[in-house]
Amino acid sequence: MTAQQNDTSKKMWGGRFSESTAASVEDFTASIQYDMRLYRHDIMGSKAHARMLARQNLITETERDAILHGLTEIESEIEAGTFAFKPELEDIHMNIEKALTDRVGAAGAKLHTARSRNDQVSLDLRLYLRDEAEELDRLLTEVQKSFLALARKYMGTVMPGYTHLQRAQPVLLSHHLLAYYEMFARDRGRIGDCKKRMNISPLGAAAMAGTGLPIDRESVAKELGFDGVTANSMDTSGDRDFALELLFSLSVVQLHLSRLAEELVLWSSKEFEFVEIGDRYCTGSSIMPQKKNPDIPELIRGKSGRVTGALVSLMMTVKGLPLTYNRDLQEDKEPVFDALDTVKAGLAITAELLQNTTFYTDRLQQATLGGFMTATDLADYLVRKDMPFREAHSVVGRVVALCQERNIELMDLTLTELQEFSTTIESDIFELLSVEGSVNSRISTGGTARVQVERALEHAEQQLGTR
Ligand code: ARG
Repeated sequence: MTAQQNDTSKKMWGGRFSESTAASVEDFTASIQYDMRLYRHDIMGSKAHARMLARQNLITETERDAILHGLTEIESEIEAGTFAFKPELEDIHMNIEKALTDRVGAAGAKLHTARSRNDQVSLDLRLYLRDEAEELDRLLTEVQKSFLALARKYMGTVMPGYTHLQRAQPVLLSHHLLAYYEMFARDRGRIGDCKKRMNISPLGAAAMAGTGLPIDRESVAKELGFDGVTANSMDTSGDRDFALELLFSLSVVQLHLSRLAEELVLWSSKEFEFVEIGDRYCTGSSIMPQKKNPDIPELIRGKSGRVTGALVSLMMTVKGLPLTYNRDLQEDKEPVFDALDTVKAGLAITAELLQNTTFYTDRLQQATLGGFMTATDLADYLVRKDMPFREAHSVVGRVVALCQERNIELMDLTLTELQEFSTTIESDIFELLSVEGSVNSRISTGGTARVQVERALEHAEQQLGTR
């Protein structure tokens, strides 16, 4: 035996092999470096499995207790940082099982009865992601709460609403902020939906065809808090839809964070000067002493690629895989873990960032002046006077052209001048041409009128219990 080789007896599956695995193969195939984070869920799943095996008389109660005790000790060792992970044991599942067998002997070797790593790895990942989904919901709620606090604080402040990044119509700042509240509400809904499909127990699918041993899948599922058991062992063995769905949901969260980040970058620039991000949440330049840079939102924006990349990565892993389990599926974990770490960090820092952002209300208000942002209001006014909308659009276009020519605002036109465009215009038009009048006229459900925004904010505050 050369130094390159390892003792075949070390492998749990070494029986049919006459040569030991090459060290390069052990290196190449190991996943322990990253799947060790599944240890708690692996142990939780194994304990439930062992209890079921005892209920079904597949192991004795003494063996069960030895397994449970051994697993508890291993968990403490891992948590204390004293557990020796062995790359030659490939993954977390075999590291724990080997340690258990070393510790409790024959009973440990019975733990894997009626189970394969194929259903075990799916179980562990589902249990792990189910917890992560809850953590994501908590972090998303914190971001939502930060938006509600800002919307409450700045209620009544007007600002330009943009399309094509051109000033379009005046809106309330709180309306803009609550738009993000809605985006993150949908994210929470998406993750919740994804959790429902994830929360089905794969255990018992075994390698891929089920097992001939008299197991009780339903009782293990119940003990682990699953809503049921998967229906087809072959589907189960190669299914990673639950991970894909979560990655998609994470990608959308990250896109939402990135859009917000982009606005914060723009708004904190001298060109806009809409917000001031607290000093503790900005960084300086090593050469330009005057600089205060929005690095946090830039990094959040910059991390969008890797989260969407993780989704695409797993989609490509699954593409073209024949049923059922293929080792390719081991490639599921790194993208999922990286996306989770990235999004969770982004959400946590975004909540803090929002809590440390101040809006320049005067600048926002000032930016609503100029740019003919109440032109649509004039058109709507004419529509109310029975003019077809297309005609009104054209009339107002000519009014705007006149103002541009004379370098004045819509408000600066006299009633007589306006009446030259339509005799139906009366003095009540001036209320609508003002920014506040325009904003408050948009009373349609979901619109920016203060009554509607107040209503939306109160509803949201009630939903999150901050009111
Ligand atoms: N380390 C593998 C993974 O993470 C465990 C499953 C191995 N199953 C197998 N039949 N080789 O996917």
